[in-house]
Amino acid sequence: NFVYNSRKLHDLEELLRDRLNIKKVLIVMDSYDEDESVIKEVGKATASYFKSILAKDMIIGITGGKTMQMVAEGVGSDNSKNNNVVVVPGRGGLGRSVEKQSNTIAATLAEKLKASYRLLHVSDNISKELIDKLIKDPHTKEVVEYIKKIQTLIFGIGRADEMANNRGTEEDKIENIIKKGAVAEAFGYYFDKNGEIVEEVNTIGVSLNHYKELEHPIGAACGNQKAEAIIAISKLNKNLVLVIDEGLAKEIFKKI
Ligand code: G3H
Repeated sequence: NFVYNSRKLHDLEELLRDRLNIKKVLIVMDSYDEDESVIKEVGKATASYFKSILAKDMIIGITGGKTMQMVAEGVGSDNSKNNNVVVVPGRGGLGRSVEKQSNTIAATLAEKLKASYRLLHVSDNISKELIDKLIKDPHTKEVVEYIKKIQTLIFGIGRADEMANNRGTEEDKIENIIKKGAVAEAFGYYFDKNGEIVEEVNTIGVSLNHYKELEHPIGAACGNQKAEAIIAISKLNKNLVLVIDEGLAKEIFKKI
């Protein structure tokens, strides 16, 4: 009962679902490249789908970025009591503006759902030694235990080059990631076009193996430039529900 668009778009949703071999594709009308406000609708559509699978006792992970910010903001006010629902950030923070960090987004989502949340006070690109130490800290440990139990991850999908730049990665490292064929980034991992891992950002958060087994992964993205990234990420878990704008959907269609 997701009525956003015409019959034609519905056909495209089914076609992309079959070609990408994933659970569901939801396409939001209009192109983000022509009208950036479309990202709000993608956020709302993602939130609306997520609410349809929300169940009591659920532990939910959500990542950072502008699309996820729109998802948290797109959750309508909720009068139902979401019993025992806990929201956690999917991975450690990124040095981006506070409103786009996974901690902020997790807290916003939890407040909208009247659920509780736990935050992860760990940034990206920290040393392995520091990760080992932090993981022993009781507060971090508790959050990590929650992250290990998430049943759904709502996450943004990015281009590898753009995300590496956003993270302030050194030039030679970016070159190296790209040379190794990275086209996509999601929840702190870089992937090549076949969905093979190329690099992992040093931080704490959801593991790739856990992601691959999730029953309810929900990915959202906007913009034609992310077509290759979407194709790569779709290879990781067949249960993926993908929410994208019409422009991006058509671009993916051209490439597969
Ligand atoms: O990993 C990918 C990013 O979270 C995408 O971020 O929604 O700001 O483009 P964005």
